[in-house]
Amino acid sequence: MASLPLSSLSSLTGKRLLLGVSAGIAAYKSALLVRLFKQAGCEVRVVMTEGAQAFITPLTLQALSGEPVRTSLLDPEAEAGMGHIELARWADAVVIAPATADLIARLVHGMADDLLTTLCLASEAPKLIAPAMNQAMWRHPATQRNVAQLASDSWQLIGPAAGDQACGDVGPGRMSEPEEIFNALAQHFSPPVKASGEISSRAPHIVITAGPTREALDPVRYLSNHSSGKMGYALAAEAAAQGARVTLISGPVNLPTPQGVARIDVETALQMHQEALRLAPQAALFIGCAAVADYRAESAAVHKIKKTDDNDTLTLTLIKNPDIIAEVAALPNSQRPFVVGFAAETQDVPRYANDKLQRKGLDMIVANDVSQQGLGFGSDDNAALLLWRATSGTEQLAAPPQTKKALATLIIRQALTLLPPQPSGALS
Ligand code: C5P
Repeated sequence: MASLPLSSLSSLTGKRLLLGVSAGIAAYKSALLVRLFKQAGCEVRVVMTEGAQAFITPLTLQALSGEPVRTSLLDPEAEAGMGHIELARWADAVVIAPATADLIARLVHGMADDLLTTLCLASEAPKLIAPAMNQAMWRHPATQRNVAQLASDSWQLIGPAAGDQACGDVGPGRMSEPEEIFNALAQHFSPPVKASGEISSRAPHIVITAGPTREALDPVRYLSNHSSGKMGYALAAEAAAQGARVTLISGPVNLPTPQGVARIDVETALQMHQEALRLAPQAALFIGCAAVADYRAESAAVHKIKKTDDNDTLTLTLIKNPDIIAEVAALPNSQRPFVVGFAAETQDVPRYANDKLQRKGLDMIVANDVSQQGLGFGSDDNAALLLWRATSGTEQLAAPPQTKKALATLIIRQALTLLPPQPSGALS
């Protein structure tokens, strides 16, 4: 089992967690999650849906949590002990892992047709949810509408991750690993850490976008790009190491979540846009490192697009995605973070980067020449030109080829140096 970061241990000690488990094959991972929470000093009470009990027994979770597992709303014996409203009030946080498509749909509609949904409706505690389902079910517009609704109802989504699925499919829908779910909760309860040193003492909340986006054409195809997410993840790791509170909005990538970073997985530009605009107004610094698809299909086909003998061409109508970073930069002053963008150019880097800095209304831009062999997309190394606004015009710093980790240190330092002094409230 992964060792726990000390900061997580202290932020979770004594917290009362209600863990909801629904009917997915990933339910077996809830056992590990209970252990992680217990190790961190939490009190854990588990509530299982009826279907969840087909995947893992209440006895297993009872043994690990040290508390009776609740499975039914209409259970006179359990209600005589701690009634469901009392249980809802008891919780400092509700975590659901795994959450099936069905449970998510019921939560969206405020249903209270079993114990878990009733508790979610009755509890005013923060709620985190880790979806887990087949990739086609996850991609279905109904599920996508539902998770967007949950996010706007203040649920914090964790994952899902992409990869091999128990059903044999490959794609998004795997439940995030227990360590990631644990980290998201620990992050939720962590006050911004003020470590020693010039940079850390400013400890802002930093929101970072990373990775590519995927724009569905039909249930099996999408438009995307080669972004690996490595640069954005390196920035998130560095910012967290500096003591900042970091939220990483990530497109589909194959990278572990850096320690101490809260990660929100998204797939499409519209989802990234929604999360970015939800979080940016509370952030002191926003770094747009994602390679967002500029266009998406006007409508994704419900069924796989077939090739036919009489059609040698296929016309797709694409529509422009919102420019996320430009919208963040255009927020009113009271809500606007310091905004750092990225530019991948193949020629005349300073001119194009400066143009992008002005056009998108950014405060700083990190530009790299992606035509250079061994640097940029997918690689571990990068070189960059940092440009930022100064009273005297635009200033710049050329960073020679180096690891993305080293470059991330440089970028975070430069951005924090330029950050206007934070009112104390902005550090939350
Ligand atoms: O316009 P271009 O894609 O070159 O701009 C790159 C910068 O803009 C990056 O910081 C990227 O994260 C951001 N961007 C965005 N939303 C888009 C396109 C780009 O936030 N739709």
